[in-house]
Amino acid sequence: MPGSVAERGAFIVFEGCDKSGKSTQCSQLVQRLNDAGVKAELLKFPDRTTTIGKMINSYLQQSCQIEDHAIHLLFTANRWEAMPRMTELLQSGVTLVVDRYSFSGVAYSAAKPDFSVEWCQQPERGLLRPDHVFYLTLSPEVAAQRGDYGTERYEKKEIQAKAAANFDLLKDETWTVINADKTKEDLSTEIFEHAMKVVDSSKQAELAQLWL
Ligand code: TMP
Ligand code: MG
Repeated sequence: MPGSVAERGAFIVFEGCDKSGKSTQCSQLVQRLNDAGVKAELLKFPDRTTTIGKMINSYLQQSCQIEDHAIHLLFTANRWEAMPRMTELLQSGVTLVVDRYSFSGVAYSAAKPDFSVEWCQQPERGLLRPDHVFYLTLSPEVAAQRGDYGTERYEKKEIQAKAAANFDLLKDETWTVINADKTKEDLSTEIFEHAMKVVDSSKQAELAQLWL
């Protein structure tokens, strides 16, 4: 159509606590979108492959200590450094399915003593705003049935519970809360159907900024 702008990709984020099945659902969504002819790529935060990401990885694996404010800012910097590439991909029509984003950044840091949600949000302001967030929730009972947490920092019941409470504070109209206590297939079908609508409604929408 003359005068029409190129269609952009959608920016879709998955959030939730550990063991909610986020990573599996992210991969399945990318696969299903590609099968349906929608160009889609999977990204993950933290991106442990960059110089900043390697520091975050050492911190999470408990092989080094980093002061709490400093590690918060490193997680944020790890998103800022991805912005040029993400913007380019979205503008070129690629849908991004992103495993964790700023909401994890705030939910986990604000779970620490003396950290407020507001303070944690500040450095995230101005990052690309997702078109949609799928928030996968799991009751503590079902989470317990899924076996022990791993050995990374934050993989403890108390921290996960505080993070879950913080996620609840961050929800807005762009979020869908999904009870993850279903079969992988049922979950993946429900998410795919919703995601296709997001892909459609994002095509002509301007990219926006988070928390401005
Ligand atoms: P992962 O298990 O999805 O790789 O995430 C690693 C841990 O890092 C997880 O416990 C959540 C936490 N996290 C933060 O504390 N801040 C952040 O900004 C992100 C993306 C994750
Ligand atoms: Mg993990």
